[in-house]
Amino acid sequence: MTAAHVYIGTSLDGFIARTSGDIDWLVKFADEHAIESYNEFIASVDVIVIGRGTFDTVMEFPTWPYEKPVFVLSRTLKDVPDHVKDRTSVLNLEPADLLKYLSERGFKQAYVDGGKVIQSFLAEDLIDRLIIARVPVLLGGGVPLFGSLDADITFDHVKTMTFSNGIVRSFYQRMRDL
Ligand SMILES: NC(=O)c1ccc[n+]([C@@H]2O[C@H](COP(=O)([O-])OP(=O)(O)OC[C@H]3O[C@@H](n4cnc5c(N)ncnc54)[C@H](OP(=O)(O)O)[C@@H]3O)[C@@H](O)[C@H]2O)c1
Repeated sequence: MTAAHVYIGTSLDGFIARTSGDIDWLVKFADEHAIESYNEFIASVDVIVIGRGTFDTVMEFPTWPYEKPVFVLSRTLKDVPDHVKDRTSVLNLEPADLLKYLSERGFKQAYVDGGKVIQSFLAEDLIDRLIIARVPVLLGGGVPLFGSLDADITFDHVKTMTFSNGIVRSFYQRMRDL
């Protein structure tokens, strides 16, 4: 089955965006180390899965930020605008079915992005690798990274890197029972 990976920036209090969807507080920390780290991660995946909420944000960017195939998860969106049809399409699939769909098309490593989408994958214990960059800002509220779970999910801590601008980036690998 296709492996699913999370690479995300959060506030100190665990939010990935303001309630308005704004990520201005995060963009401020996008220095050369952050860009290098993101590029290294992106090179390790072959497909990107984003939620419709994240897609809405991306559509407001001045340029399309991805160079790999992108699937937008949505239960409401029927299609994407014509000008991005060559690079992305909509799927309405639950996490396990989505990974099966990707696997059948030869994709091996998926980057899964968006708060609700990540939570839905975690709820089914389908995330293999979690890379979380924590920036030293408290937002007091917003879009949460994590949600409720039916059971604990334990990860191995692989490494943590700290940067002079205050970013703490931690790498976790899902610990699978033998
Ligand atoms: N800090 C960061 O690094 C980072 C990274 C990514 C995103 N963000 C921010 O996070 C915000 C978006 O996060 P979010 O939690 O609001 O939204 P999200 O996870 O990107 O998207 C949620 C939407 O995805 C669809 N969806 C989720 N699971 C689905 C499934 N299994 N099947 C079909 N559709 C599914 C639903 O769309 P429908 O309602 O259309 O059905 C749902 O409303 C944006 O503001 C973005 O800028 C921040």
